[in-house]
Amino acid sequence: MSKIKTAFFCQHCGTQYPKWQGQCNSCKQWNTIVEEVIQKEDKTSWKPSAENKKAAKPLKIEEIDSAQEIRMDSLDGELNRVLGGGIVPGSLILLGGEPGIGKSTLLLQISLKLPYRTLYVSGEESQKQIKMRAERITDKANNCYILTETKTQHIFHQIREIEPEVVIIDSIQTLHTDYIEASPGSISQIRECTAELIKFAKETNVPVILIGHITKDGSIAGPKILEHMVDTVLQFEGDRNHVYRILRSLKNRFGSTAELGIYEMQGSGLREVSNPSEILISPKSEELSGTAIASTMEGMRPLMIEIQALVSTAVYGTPQRSTTGYNAKRLNMILAVLEKRAGFRLGTKDVFLNITGGITVDDPAIDLAVVAAILSSNEDIPVGKDFCFAAEVGLSGEIRPVNRIEQRIQEAEKLGFSSIFVSKHNKIPIKDFGIKVMMVGRIEEVAGELF
Ligand code: TYD
Ligand code: MG
Repeated sequence: MSKIKTAFFCQHCGTQYPKWQGQCNSCKQWNTIVEEVIQKEDKTSWKPSAENKKAAKPLKIEEIDSAQEIRMDSLDGELNRVLGGGIVPGSLILLGGEPGIGKSTLLLQISLKLPYRTLYVSGEESQKQIKMRAERITDKANNCYILTETKTQHIFHQIREIEPEVVIIDSIQTLHTDYIEASPGSISQIRECTAELIKFAKETNVPVILIGHITKDGSIAGPKILEHMVDTVLQFEGDRNHVYRILRSLKNRFGSTAELGIYEMQGSGLREVSNPSEILISPKSEELSGTAIASTMEGMRPLMIEIQALVSTAVYGTPQRSTTGYNAKRLNMILAVLEKRAGFRLGTKDVFLNITGGITVDDPAIDLAVVAAILSSNEDIPVGKDFCFAAEVGLSGEIRPVNRIEQRIQEAEKLGFSSIFVSKHNKIPIKDFGIKVMMVGRIEEVAGELF
């Protein structure tokens, strides 16, 4: 092989250096300089060569075949939904998530289920460990090959032998290529290995799914450019102490990013949850104060969630406000609105708010349910178990309309609620819902109806 040339580039301003240094002379940023391959082999690319003749030619747009994109069915309903109907051949999918959340479990489970010849490459666990995990998940053996390897050249060698139809890499941070000397997990290694895999995927039309670790602040470890290079970025999230996991798409070149998949972590792997509302609200057998049900949208999917509030007299001078699954600043805003606009004295009370099931919701349409839960706990009167809510609360105490109201109402109806509170400014299609739609304009009206 001919000599490989590398150089060092500042990731901030692009200045090139012959060797590494801590600070960029031109933009003065620290630790932004990384090694990159600038020339793999001695080739003058502009001269006609055999390879150049094979290269893609420009086509007029009407000449391009626009036949429907073929999708590979993964036999996993939730993954198919998030990807927009299945795996697109030749695509690169990056799955990110915190350590221990279940990324390896999810992808191993999918590789065991896939009706295609699959190569699962792990740089993190031994073949035995993976076999043990596979035994927990299923007892069916299929055409899934396990390889423990971290060097991309060796992986490609095995790929040529096995000719898999799907390749899964756990994880991109453990890979390294011969072309770069930096250690595995460094920015330049990650980038070069991803580039090699992209080239492989596009040339052979074999989809590649990569696992990516995420850093403390929640972004995928490695350069941001990794997210730009791949076709699809999925995120696996959830509270590790809870059983529910959400698979979200952050970027998708072949579908919408609004879809979302829900799984339940069990002793025998992840179970697809096809009707999430039923598990996120507790059985309505007894009425307790401080809980209210909100009809929210997670992506395109309506979801009923339970909000719990606890309001109690503060023991210390400064009252505590704490939330799980809900934005703490938003809670403070709602408390201020309740105090100032609706005359509820909550200034000296501790307020704790929790969304059950360990999920995090940032849909503003749950505001009204938050208000109802807080007032219910404060008055110690339960919210009727047949009521639910779908509206945003504004700064002047007005109840504001929310999007996709029809779907929210239908979901509430499906789950057997008898009344739903919505904003009177929402345009509700005139039709017969099997549920009473209560149109309200101010918080006081809601409080009047409930207590
Ligand atoms: P893992 O897939 O190793 O996480 P990641 O690859 O994202 O770091 O998930 C590990 C967790 O999942 C571990 O705490 C055990 C749990 N688990 C189950 O609860 N049931 C199972 O069947 C399996 C395989 C794992
Ligand atoms: Mg793992």
